[in-house]
Amino acid sequence: MAHGGPAWEVIRRDPEVDGLFSGAMDNDSRLMAKAVVETCGGAFVGLSSVTDVGGRSGTMGKAITEAFPNLEYTVLDQPNIVDGLVGSERLKFVGGDMFVEIPPADAILLKWVLHDWSDEKCIDILKRSKEAVSGRGGIGKVIIIDVVVGNQPDDHRSTETQLFWDMLMMTYDAKERDEKEWEKLFVDAGFSGYKIISHLGLRSLIEVYP
Ligand SMILES: C[S@@+](CC[C@H](N)C(=O)[O-])C[C@H]1O[C@@H](n2cnc3c(N)ncnc32)[C@H](O)[C@@H]1O
Repeated sequence: MAHGGPAWEVIRRDPEVDGLFSGAMDNDSRLMAKAVVETCGGAFVGLSSVTDVGGRSGTMGKAITEAFPNLEYTVLDQPNIVDGLVGSERLKFVGGDMFVEIPPADAILLKWVLHDWSDEKCIDILKRSKEAVSGRGGIGKVIIIDVVVGNQPDDHRSTETQLFWDMLMMTYDAKERDEKEWEKLFVDAGFSGYKIISHLGLRSLIEVYP
């Protein structure tokens, strides 16, 4: 607020801050894509399509489509973010609003998106995600990559860092969540089950089933 508006507004209107934010997201996705493919790539096995909601410049998409050559990948982000981005045969960019409609796919990926939002907004996004994977039989699922606070109970410094993130996200009117808080979101959004598959350092990969 000291800069004249909420964080997202400042990012949107100040090209320098926007560049820093985008660079940080790209660097994180480059690192995380490698870790995801190596340690929990099984989450993508057998899928023929993925929509990466809030997938920004497609850094994650490029790595995942390289690792899984049969996968069609759609990046959904705000029109001003994806306008002018050029995809490839199996990677396309769609401008839209995740609160209104999410392009259907076997799986919806939400990497570092839900921690930006309140519980009410997360439930909206999760409900739209559930609609987007409905009718996909046993394959349909939502894949979340985010912090699960306390996922490494013996590592005090990891938990402390996750809680620092929680304080940072408060400035975005959002938060990090522990397993119980995630579970409540999934139940409230109408999902039937979930599995925390892997610990990616401070973050985890969670599969959520319709
Ligand atoms: C923290 S960034 C995460 C980007 C990317 N998933 C990653 O991990 O590198 C959140 C993303 O959500 C996008 N976003 C915010 N509101 C959105 C909306 N209503 N519809 C679609 N995308 C949105 C932002 O533009 C941003 O790219």
